[in-house]
Amino acid sequence: MTERIIGKKVTLRPATLADRRPIFDWLTNSDLTKFMMGPPIYPDSPVPTWEEFVNDYKEYFFDSTKPHLGRCFVIEVNDEPIGQINHDKISSADGSTELDIWLKSSKYINKGYGTDAIITLNNYLADKYRCKKFIISPSKRNHAAIRAYEKAGFIKTDEVPDRLLSDYNDNIILTKIMP
Ligand SMILES: CC(C)(COP(=O)(O)OP(=O)(O)OC[C@H]1O[C@@H](n2cnc3c(N)ncnc32)[C@H](O)[C@@H]1OP(=O)(O)O)[C@@H](O)C(=O)NCCC(=O)NCCS
Repeated sequence: MTERIIGKKVTLRPATLADRRPIFDWLTNSDLTKFMMGPPIYPDSPVPTWEEFVNDYKEYFFDSTKPHLGRCFVIEVNDEPIGQINHDKISSADGSTELDIWLKSSKYINKGYGTDAIITLNNYLADKYRCKKFIISPSKRNHAAIRAYEKAGFIKTDEVPDRLLSDYNDNIILTKIMP
């Protein structure tokens, strides 16, 4: 039985390899894509090809074999998939990890689902892997994402982590330190 992580509004289901293609499609070919990547708003962050995506989101993101290196989860509401959230490598030095999230359609935004998915994953990773610090790095242009992260308890910081995956030319860094 697949472990499900229950939040207040959403449930997180560990993604499988069968979810890899839909998750790619939600990222690159949805009505939300233009709000996070590609021209005209984000010419500095091109939409990835399938090959580039597969290179970034290796098999272990979908099969639980290397949870310390990263894992994708499908965000569900009433058993319907509405998006994905993932964490990257968990640092053994300081228990930090970077998160990324995207919903699959504008139908689902501004209902508190993104914020709840982030809080739910934070609590799960803190309990299960003793994660102490979460990092997220959106573009300054992505006001909705920044608002959702702040609602989830993230605070803007000038401290640049050792390893950062974000590739916007105006990315900002927000962190959440667990108590
Ligand atoms: C970012 C994302 C995951 C947030 O999920 P969500 O479920 O819509 O988030 P929430 O409903 O919890 O919160 C969104 C907040 O942003 C606010 N918001 C929406 N558009 C906004 C805008 N243009 N400017 C400022 N705030 C905005 C909403 O009003 C809401 O705040 P409120 O609850 O105080 O009213 C979702 O918008 C998404 O998938 N966007 C496309 C992908 C993306 O940008 N991913 C982030 C890459 S770093």
